[in-house]
Amino acid sequence: MKSAPPSDAPAPFNVTRRSFLKRCTMLAAATGLPLWFVERQLRAAEDPVKKLSANDRPGIALIGCGGMGKVDAANASNYGDIVAVCDVDSGRLAEAVAKFTTEDGRKPDGYGDFRRLLERGDVHAIVNGTPDHWHSLINIAAARANKDIYSEKPLTLTIDEGRHVIKAVRDHKVILQTGTQQRSSTRFRLACELVRNGRIGQLREANVWLPAGLRDGPFATAPVPAGLNWDYWLGQAPFVEYVPQRCHGTFRFWYDYSGGTMTDWGAHHNDIAYWAIGLLAPTHVASTRLAEPIAGGYDAYSEYTVNYTYANGIRLNIHTTRDDSIYGAVINKDGQRNGIRFEGSDGWIWVNRDRIEASDPELLRTPLPEGAERLYVSKNHHQNFFDCMRTRQQPICDVETGHRSATMCHLGAISLRTGHALTWDPETERFTGEHAAEANGYLRREMRGPYDYSFVS
Ligand SMILES: NC(=O)c1ccc[n+]([C@@H]2O[C@H](COP(=O)([O-])OP(=O)(O)OC[C@H]3O[C@@H](n4cnc5c(N)ncnc54)[C@H](O)[C@@H]3O)[C@@H](O)[C@H]2O)c1
Repeated sequence: MKSAPPSDAPAPFNVTRRSFLKRCTMLAAATGLPLWFVERQLRAAEDPVKKLSANDRPGIALIGCGGMGKVDAANASNYGDIVAVCDVDSGRLAEAVAKFTTEDGRKPDGYGDFRRLLERGDVHAIVNGTPDHWHSLINIAAARANKDIYSEKPLTLTIDEGRHVIKAVRDHKVILQTGTQQRSSTRFRLACELVRNGRIGQLREANVWLPAGLRDGPFATAPVPAGLNWDYWLGQAPFVEYVPQRCHGTFRFWYDYSGGTMTDWGAHHNDIAYWAIGLLAPTHVASTRLAEPIAGGYDAYSEYTVNYTYANGIRLNIHTTRDDSIYGAVINKDGQRNGIRFEGSDGWIWVNRDRIEASDPELLRTPLPEGAERLYVSKNHHQNFFDCMRTRQQPICDVETGHRSATMCHLGAISLRTGHALTWDPETERFTGEHAAEANGYLRREMRGPYDYSFVS
């Protein structure tokens, strides 16, 4: 593994921002148009996947070189150079080094400790593709090192972590995009705009279907594979002997590292429900467990319903389906797809990654009138992040949005784990009323040393 280069780093990335602003200012002066309008027009004219010129390319570091991290970094490499990669599994690290090459032909440097990578001056942004239990500490460290952040969802492992991440991002004025990419899909935006503008009348409830999780076990311990730093991988989570099913890919079915499909797929579909409903958080959550975990196996509930109620009476019901795989692929073509159905007084709208449908096709065909409420437009989640690195405007899934949509998922998981119907105060972000003391105990988790906040201070 290479050590970090000396800090005689290349010129900072905001050189490009200055030249972009200069172009905008000249054009605004020449045309008499407001600067903000010219900026928006120029940005909109950019080809979504156009590569930037060589000295316009930010340096990017990938932290967590698993399935999604590599996909995110490949997308990010349309806008910048992957100059460094980091993983606690040396095999995965080597694969990532082999996969990426900068535009001028250099291989990224490999790291086993993300803190060393963050010392580099030529890293302008990170892509955080680690498991959920590592998101917050890495994002906080990146913010403190003044790096912009593309972080995978769910943004946090606990609700309390969210406030720490928000503080670090705001204190250091960095850009954070949460990897809930459904917001950058025209289909989901259309559904949310129609709902918000009363196209289906008064919104009464939303029904979300998530793929059911895995229910399996018991699992045996095994020797730690060569090249995997298991203690570092576990991080803040309690120490346990190595069990393959706890690690790569299937970590999401354990509460120590994630929250089952409630927080995995829930981070996507709840984020869309949050966008359409437009309220900070529900005030009540209740749940039903439909299958018990197998002792010694995955411990996150695999099949369940969760029912949220908002202060204005709107209900959001979460269901699980076994007709789609845990990756969202169709298992039973006549079965229940994962997605969201908004039910209003005058009709319904169904939306998922494949299609949008309505009780009457005219509900979708008729354009919204002049003056209708419009939502943030992003046609490409990664491009939106890189645009915002230049403009320093908030990306479509900024840190607060990521925190709030993760919170919805955590509320569901806490109700499932405690077995209680609970009352939530969206302003103070605490449970109140019956069972509040027990439920508030789930807002944060003890972090195992040395992997607590001091690890990144
Ligand atoms: N946006 C999406 O559609 C989408 C899809 C899949 C996964 N995800 C999210 O991406 C994240 C990763 O999921 P995955 O399926 O790629 O997981 P994965 O297990 O395949 O990869 C995670 C990688 O992170 C590494 N890692 C763990 N701790 C680390 C640390 N401290 N420093 C550096 N590397 C570390 C692991 O060794 C592993 O290689 C999860 O949070 C998941 O929710 C998002």
